Order: sequence, then C-alpha cells, then structure tokens
Amino acid sequence: MRLAIVTCVRRRQQKRREKSLTAREKPFVKLEHVGKAYGSHVVLSDINLSVFAGDVLAIIGPSGSGKSTLLRCINFIESPDDGIVTVGDVTLQGGRPLPRRELAQLRRQLGMVFQSFNLFPHMTVLRNVTMPQQRVLGRSKREADEVAMQLLERVGLADKAAQYPIRCSGGQQQRIAIARALALEPKVMLFDEPTSALDPELGLEVLGVMRELAKSGMTMIVVTHEMSFAENVSDHVAVMADGAITEYGPSREVIRDPQSIRGKRFLRAVNER
Ligand SMILES: Nc1ncnc2c1ncn2[C@@H]1O[C@H](COP(=O)(O)OP(=O)(O)OP(=O)(O)O)[C@@H](O)[C@H]1O
Ligand SMILES: [Mg+2]
Repeated sequence: MRLAIVTCVRRRQQKRREKSLTAREKPFVKLEHVGKAYGSHVVLSDINLSVFAGDVLAIIGPSGSGKSTLLRCINFIESPDDGIVTVGDVTLQGGRPLPRRELAQLRRQLGMVFQSFNLFPHMTVLRNVTMPQQRVLGRSKREADEVAMQLLERVGLADKAAQYPIRCSGGQQQRIAIARALALEPKVMLFDEPTSALDPELGLEVLGVMRELAKSGMTMIVVTHEMSFAENVSDHVAVMADGAITEYGPSREVIRDPQSIRGKRFLRAVNER
C-alpha cells in the first residue's frame, strides 16, 4: 500500500517536472525570420529570437542598427514586412492584414517603456496610472486607484500621486511610466533605452526598479546602452548590427568575450569611451 502511494506521488512529481520543462522549452516571445524595410532601406533582416518566460534579454548595438525597430515590431507599433511574431499563444504574420482581435490580444501581453517617458502632462501622476486601467481593463476607479497606489509604492513614488508629471524629475517620470505599464498586467515588458535621457544618478533609480522587476520574474526585453545592466541583470544579450543579430548568448559571455567581429568592435568602442 505504502509503495503504491510513493510510486503514485513520484509519478505525479515526474509529470509536474515534465510539464514545467515543456513550458520552459517553449519560448514566450518568438520571432522567426522577421524583416522590415523602409522603402529600399532594409532595417531588419531575417531576425530570429526566442525569449523564455522569466528571462531578461538585453539588446545592445550601435545607433541605427535596428534595435528600436525590432522592439516596435514585437508589439506591431511597426508591422514587420515578413516573418512571424509569437507572444504567448498569439501568433501574427508580418506582411499580411492584421486580425484585430489577435493584435489586441498580443498587445495586451506587452508593456512598453520609451526613452521619452510619454506621460500625459495634463493628468496627475495617479491619473496617469489609473486612466489606462479603466480604459483598457474596465476597472472601477476604486480598483484602479488601489492598484496604482500599490505600484507607485513599488517604484518609490506614492508621495507624488497628486503631482503633475512636470513637477517630477526625469527619473521619477520614468518610474511612473513603468508603474503605468505594469498596471495593465503585461506578461512581458519592453524597454527602449529607458535611461538614456537621464543623468547617471537618475538613471540608477530607474535601473533599480528594473532590477527589482527582473528579480520578481518579469520577462523583459531591454534595449540598453547600460553595459552593467546588460551584464549583471539580463540573462542573455543580443548584439545587433546592420539590421541583424550578429551575436546572442549568456550575458556575461557576450559582454566579456564577444565572438563576432561587430560584437567585438561595438564592445571595444563602449569600453574605450
Ligand atoms: N519610420 C522610419 N522611416 C524611415 N526610416 C526609419 C524609420 N524608423 C527608423 N528608420 C531607420 O531605420 C534604421 C534603424 O533605426 P532604429 O531606430 O531601429 O535604430 P536603433 O538601433 O534603435 O538606433 P539608436 O541606438 O540610435 O536608437 C535607421 O537607419 C533609421 O534611420
Ligand atoms: Mg533606438
């Protein structure tokens, strides 16, 4: 009898392990052969990329290499001309008319934070975080207020709730933008150089919030010039050059010992600055 119970428990454990392995083996975000051109100018060519749930991917590379365009193709702010983008269970094909329902489902899973914050200047900090919740998720004002206050607390800005964004520093505005994105409960956060408009000290505040977010298990894709973040917080690094991913691997290996010619050149330039 006891043996039967033990065997049964073991079988269940084994099944659970297999299940989590399958979830782990299936990327949450997958780009296959993604391409994008503006007229004759090819900006992305044959991009293949997988990001697993809970992973943090840093995308680095020289200016104009296509990093922002790549992020914008993931949430279809820009539509890819070719290839396939999968986020969770939603797959969209580039270069074809986009089915509205699937597009909305794909976007609902993605939060985005831009270099330039993009807060609504005529709304208080609290309203900036509550309004999208009420519009997109249909939350009541009370519920949205509660979630917003929790998130403002999390980014260290509960005391700014009644202020207008203009009265907040750049670092504070960026942390509000992060809280606003998180309020819609995304599965993946996309960051496009979130600290490059900030002075180093204010940048650190934002990086602190992002580090905490990464620790909490959020899946993140971060375009960044912060090499210390790329090396120490992200799990993987992709180096982009001329619209292609020239190198991809575990963050420390790529940052400390790049193998591709473009990766070597870019990281040498970063280190010599
Ligand atoms: N809407 C657009 N129309 C035409 N060309 C564009 C457009 N957006 C981007 N590009 C071009 O695509 C290329 C890649 O731009 P992108 O902004 O993705 O580069 P990036 O790697 O993010 O650069 P940076 O590090 O300077 O932000 C650039 O040559 C840019 O001029
Ligand atoms: Mg960019």
